[in-house]
Order: sequence, then structure tokens, then C-alpha cells
Amino acid sequence: MSDLLITGARLADGTTGDLGVREGVFVDPADLGGDAERLDAEGLLALPGLVDLHTHLREPGREDAETVATGTRAAARGGYTAVFAMANTDPVTDTAESAAYVAHLGRRDGDCEVVPVGAVSRGLAGEELAELGLMAEHAGVTVFSDDGRCVHDPLLMRRALTYLKPYDAVLAQHAQDPRLAGPGACCHESQIQGVLGLPGWPSVAESAIIARDVMLAEYCGARYHACHVSTAESVDVLRWAKKRGVQVTAEVTPHHLLLQTEEVAGYDTTYKVNPPLRTREHVDAVREALADGTIDAVATDHAPHAQQDKDHPFDVALPGMIGLEQSLAVVMEVMVNSGRMDWPTLVKRMSATPAEIGRLRHQGRPIAVGEPANLVLVDPDARAVVDAAASASKARNNPYGGRELPDPVVATVWAGRRTYQR
Ligand code: DOR
Ligand code: ZN
Ligand code: ZN
Repeated sequence: MSDLLITGARLADGTTGDLGVREGVFVDPADLGGDAERLDAEGLLALPGLVDLHTHLREPGREDAETVATGTRAAARGGYTAVFAMANTDPVTDTAESAAYVAHLGRRDGDCEVVPVGAVSRGLAGEELAELGLMAEHAGVTVFSDDGRCVHDPLLMRRALTYLKPYDAVLAQHAQDPRLAGPGACCHESQIQGVLGLPGWPSVAESAIIARDVMLAEYCGARYHACHVSTAESVDVLRWAKKRGVQVTAEVTPHHLLLQTEEVAGYDTTYKVNPPLRTREHVDAVREALADGTIDAVATDHAPHAQQDKDHPFDVALPGMIGLEQSLAVVMEVMVNSGRMDWPTLVKRMSATPAEIGRLRHQGRPIAVGEPANLVLVDPDARAVVDAAASASKARNNPYGGRELPDPVVATVWAGRRTYQR
């Protein structure tokens, strides 16, 4: 790997200068050899590489929808240098061997770091604990989740939290009480949902689970993370729990920051997602919570699906939308360009804090001499209409297709290697 000289970049704190990269580490540009490759970053912002706590890569098992190679290529295009790969693959990542296999696929095929998430319950069945200790000890797993399913049984949740505490691992919950929705629930319970005739998920199905879980996390003294928070009541619960000193963190997705229930009015299954898109008041609440830190991080919940799994009636189609490539664009549009958030805070929410939650010590670090060379070069002014067909992902369930958004990512460098350049 040759040396790299990045010239004229501005950092999130406003300082400008040249950056040297040698053997995966930022070095003083004066220490580079004369034959260093050059990357002109005049007018661009250099941010630490983004970290995604919540990605579905679908490998092993559904390589027709996504692979580690295509998913991480989408991640690199989106400015990410690390992604946590959710456990709802086939087979499920519920043993040390299967977690080690996902990490191996990442090292072999990845355009960013791939960190396996371990399942909480065997086969995601919600009945007995998976090999939590073996996954933590032998595969370095730090995040455990049954995502796609809610850990519903309170006793299983209690045992999982108790078990994970000594490992300093975090339990990431897909908070959605299945007992509070009817069969085929696929849309936010609301006035529009009634008009459309689709079965609904009430917002309390989320907040009631988070309320229970933060009490259990406090009781067990363990770390708990709420995935894809989407309701105003959930935000209230999180605010209360944090004030109480519970070890709780939370994430919000780009789609819950930008899109509302109305999107489903055309029965376009691209917009079917769990938790569902919500109404204005909820969207406003999660934006405010991300700005003030009640919600700690942005996570994509990139959920690629094969077209045949989306080409069904709305209540039958699989839920999920992709998001790695447009995540930064959406956060810029909703949070930075609107004046809700500054660049240093964006860096916390999309890089430093997710790395800290997942205990990734070499990601989410500042851009400084001696630190790992993970960065994304951002053009803060470029805009473009999103072309869903141009995605590096195998999937086309992109909710941003046809929308005009910022087009920020110019180049991504992971461990000193250029993984994307426009
Ligand atoms: O919409 C979703 N899709 N929500 C989830 O929790 C799982 C995900 C998937 O795996 O497709
Ligand atoms: Zn989920
Ligand atoms: Zn998910």
C-alpha cells in the first residue's frame, strides 16, 4: 500500500491542512515519501469514517439480496468504514463459529470492517439463550440482537442482560411488541392507515417494550440499546431512563428522520419497514432527540431485499429498506442544513458514539497523527437526484430514489486504503 497525501481538507472543527497516510495510520505529511499518491481535497470536509451499528448484509443465506462484498461496497460509497452485521442471516449468527465466519467474510470480501452481531436467542426463536459467552469470548462479539424479532419474553431478556453484563456487551433490542398488533401489521396505526385498510402497529408497541427493558437493564446493571427508535413516547422513556442513570443508548434510522406514514399511501412496498414510518409529531420528536443526544446515534438498518420478496401485496411483502449510501445525505439534509446540528455533533452521532457503543476502539477516532486512517471526504454543497438503479447494493428497495438530496461522499479511506472515490 503506497503512501497517500490528502491536500487542503477542512476538518469538522474548521481547521484546514494536509493529511499524510502511511501503512493505515495518519502521519505528518512531512514524513511521506516523494512518491505518495495525491488526493486533492480542496473545498472538502474530512470526517472520521462513519460507523453503522445496524446493517443487514444477508450473507450467508440470501446472497441473492446482498452479499458482504456488495453491502460493504454500498457502505464505502456512503462513507462508512465499519458496519455491524445483524444476526438474522441463514443460518442465524448464534454461535462463535458462525460469528467468526461472518468476520472472515468481512476480511475476505469487505470494503469496510465487518463486525458480527450475535443473536440473543438460539435461532432467533426467543426461547433459549444463544451461546452468548462463547460468542463474546471466542469471536469478540460485543453487540447482541435478535433484530427482525423483538426479545419478547421478560425472563429471557433478564437472563440475557445478566449474562452479558460481565462481558461489557450491549443488548440491542428490536422493540416492537408482537402481542400489540394483529396479523399482517405493516403500517403505523393512524388515520391514514385506517383509510388505506392496512393492519396497523400502534406506537405503544415500541415504547412499552423500551419502558420494560430500561427497568430490566437498570435492575441487572447491564447495557441496553434501543434499535431504530421511531416514536415520541419512546423518546420520553429514554430521556427519563438516562436521567435516572440507566446504561441505555439509542439509535434512529435515516428513514425515520426523513419519511412519514404518508409514503405508504400508494401501497409501494419499498416503504414497508419495521418499525413503520410514523407521523409528523413522531418524526419531529426523533429529530429533536438526535439533536439533544437523547438518541445517541444514527444507524441505517440497511435491509436489502430481492425484488420477488417486495413484489407482493403490502401486508405480505417483506419489511425493510436500504440506506447505507444515502444515510449521510439524509442526516445532512434533515439535521445540518436545517440548522439543528453542527458538524462535530454529526461526527459524534455517526462515527464516535456508534464505535463507542460497539466497543470498536480503532474506529470513530479523530483525524490526527497516530490515529487509524479512516475518513470520508465530503462535499457539503453537492446535490443530486438519487438514482436507485446506480446503487452498489444488489437490492433496489431504496426509498430515496428520485429524490433530490445532498450528494456528499467524494472518497472514503479505510485503514489507509481508498475504498471509494467518485
Ligand atoms: O424492516 C425491517 N427489516 N426491520 C427489521 O427489523 C428487520 C429488517 C430485515 O431484516 O429485513
Ligand atoms: Zn429491527
Ligand atoms: Zn434491522
